Amino acid sequence: MDGNIKKPKTILYNNKNKSENYLTPGSQMEWGGMRFNPPFQWDVSPNREWFGLMQMMCSMELPKNAAMIEIGTYAGESTSMFACSGMFKQIHTIDPYDFPQGWQVLMEARVNCRYWDYIEFWRNYSFDCHHCFKNGVFDFVYIDGDHTGESVERDIDLFLPKVKKGGYIGGHDYNPECWPEVVNAVNKKFRGKMIQTFDDKSWVTRV
Ligand SMILES: C[S@@+](CC[C@H](N)C(=O)[O-])C[C@H]1O[C@@H](n2cnc3c(N)ncnc32)[C@H](O)[C@@H]1O
Repeated sequence: MDGNIKKPKTILYNNKNKSENYLTPGSQMEWGGMRFNPPFQWDVSPNREWFGLMQMMCSMELPKNAAMIEIGTYAGESTSMFACSGMFKQIHTIDPYDFPQGWQVLMEARVNCRYWDYIEFWRNYSFDCHHCFKNGVFDFVYIDGDHTGESVERDIDLFLPKVKKGGYIGGHDYNPECWPEVVNAVNKKFRGKMIQTFDDKSWVTRV
């Protein structure tokens, strides 16, 4: 009786079919991301990009329901990690997405951060929207935008005033081999202060 009814085919989704990915093959997003699935060439096992950021968050004494700003959202991986820590009630994340496929990466960020309605995405350059944030009210600023020395210094200059006394400012890629300009900029701006670093090359200092 049911002879003519075609049974639906069982499809096994195992992520091996990369052609389903809506981003261009070979693009950074295709292999899954920076924090969540770093490329094997980085030799990240266990995933220090993930653990390191966790270490940094655990090291900070933040008040309940803290507020933070992140410079450099990209796919929203660090943003979602900040959010799922449960330590923040307000997260502002800034990125101009001024590269090819920027809007797709922004979409990816929105998907990765879909559980948290208190994340504000600012599609802008840090130096063009710094005035939108009040001074002295944020518990934490994380700088992971443009990695030239000049930009890191500018981000520190513009966003350090946003941090309240006893809060923290930090960032990513404090790595003398890969990002010497980041290291020099941070050392220059916080000479004589204790700078803590973590396995993902995040850095942080107390204000
Ligand atoms: C390394 S990615 C950020 C990665 C992300 N924080 C994470 O760990 O998952 C750097 C991002 O900074 C953005 N960017 C570059 N200059 C910027 C600026 N002046 N203000 C804000 N974002 C900037 C780039 O568009 C890029 O998406």
